[in-house]
Amino acid sequence: MDKLRIAGGRPLEGEVRVSGAKNSALPIMCAALLTDQPLALGNVPRLMDVSTMARLLSQMGVAVERPADGAMVLRAAEVNDPTAPYELVKTMRASVLVLGPLLARCGRAKVSLPGGCAIGQRPVDQHVKGLQAMGATIAVEHGYMHAGAARLRGARIVMDLVTVTGTENLMMAAVLAEGATVIENAAREPEVVDLAKCLSAMGARIEGAGTDVIRVEGVRSLAGAAHRVMPDRIETGTYLVAAAAAGGKVRLAGAAPETLDATLEKLREAGARISTGDSSIEIEMSGRPGAASLRTAPYPGFATDMQAQLMALDSIASGTALITETIFENRFMHALELQRLGADISIEGNTAVVTGVGRLQGANVMATDLRASAGLVIAGLVAEGETVIDRIYHLDRGYEALETKFAALGARIERIR
Ligand code: EPU
Repeated sequence: MDKLRIAGGRPLEGEVRVSGAKNSALPIMCAALLTDQPLALGNVPRLMDVSTMARLLSQMGVAVERPADGAMVLRAAEVNDPTAPYELVKTMRASVLVLGPLLARCGRAKVSLPGGCAIGQRPVDQHVKGLQAMGATIAVEHGYMHAGAARLRGARIVMDLVTVTGTENLMMAAVLAEGATVIENAAREPEVVDLAKCLSAMGARIEGAGTDVIRVEGVRSLAGAAHRVMPDRIETGTYLVAAAAAGGKVRLAGAAPETLDATLEKLREAGARISTGDSSIEIEMSGRPGAASLRTAPYPGFATDMQAQLMALDSIASGTALITETIFENRFMHALELQRLGADISIEGNTAVVTGVGRLQGANVMATDLRASAGLVIAGLVAEGETVIDRIYHLDRGYEALETKFAALGARIERIR
C-alpha cells in the first residue's frame, strides 16, 4: 500500500494548476445515462473515483473513452444492465447518483444501499423520498434498492435537509419526467449548478440551480452535448490552506474564486493576504497564522470538505479555535492523528477545541478519509522532521497528482510504493 513521506518545515512558492472538480465530474458522468447520444466532457480529473464511476457506467453498457488528457466521451447508446453492484457502491458512495438517471432512462434500477462510511451514517432516504414522490416504487431487498417507474411524473418535493447528491439525483430524474418538478430546500453547491449547466446543454429545462428552489420542466428526450467540468474548489482550498500554514506565496491557476468565499474569508482572518483574478487566486503568508474558528454548513457556508484542512492550520495557529461540524456526525477522525503530531485538540460533541501549538513534530499517521488525509498532508508540511502518511489511497480518490503539485511548490514530499 502506498504511503507519503513528507519532510516538513519549508514554505511553499510557485504556481499550481487546479484540476476539474471531482464532485462535479461524478454526477455529470451519470448524466450521460440520460441520452443515447455522446456526452463530451473536458477538464475531467484523473482520479480513482472517476475511474470507479467509469467502470460502473461501462458495466451498464456505457462506452467510455478518454481520447486526451482531461477529455472524456461517454455514450449510453443502450443501457443493458441498470445495476450498481455492492462491490462498487461500497468503495464510492457517489455511485448512488446513477439511481435517478437510470429510473428516468430505463424505468428501472437496482442500486446497492451505500451503508455507513467513515465520516458518518449517510443515509439516502431523501433520494428515495423524492423519487417516490415522482411515482417510483422502491423496495429494499437483500441490501439493494429495487426501483421501478413507467414514466416518472413531475412533483413538488420539499427536502427534509440539504443534500448535495440527493438534489443532483432528483434533478437528473426530473429532466425526463412528465411535467414540472419543484425541488425545495435544494442544495446550492456550485457542483449542482455545474450539473444543471450540463443538463441544460443536453436540452433539459432547469431554472433556479444555485438557489434553494429548483424547477425542472420535463422533456421527452435529451441530446448529446459538450461540457467543461468546473474547477475543483476543495482542491483549490486545500492548496490555499497549505500555503497559509506553511507560509510563502502561491498562485492557483484555473480556479473559480467565486466558489470559495467562505474559505477565503477564514484564510484572511488567519492573516493571509489574498488577491483574486477571474480564474486565479494568489495567497501570501508570512509569520504564524492566527486562529480561525468555523462552523461547517451547506453552501455558501463553510464546506465540511475543508474542515480537516483548517483544523491542521489551527493546530499551529496562535490562539484557540472552535471548529463545529454540523454536516457529518463523525468527521473528526483526523483530530486523533493530528494529536500524534503534537496538536492540542479536544473534542466536545460536534465541536473541536483547537489550541495552537508552537510547532508540530513529524510522526507516522494514518489517513482515514479523503479530506482527513488532506489535513494530514498540511500538518506534515509544517511539522518538524519527517511525517509518513499511511493509507493514501484515500487521497488518490480525490486529489490529482497531489505529491507532484506540492513538490512543484518546493515541498519535500514523495510517494513510497
Ligand atoms: N443525508 C440524509 N439523508 C439523505 C441524504 C443525506 O440524512 O438522503 C444527510 C447526510 O447523512 C449528511 C447530510 O445529509 O449528514 C449532508 O449530506 P449530503 O447528502 O449533502 O452529502 P453527499 O451528497 O453524500 C456530497 C459530497 C461530499 C460532501 C457532502 C457535503 C459528492 C460526490 N460528495 O456528499 O464530498 O462532503 O456533499 O458537502 O458530491 C468528499 O469529496 O470528500 C466528500 C465527502
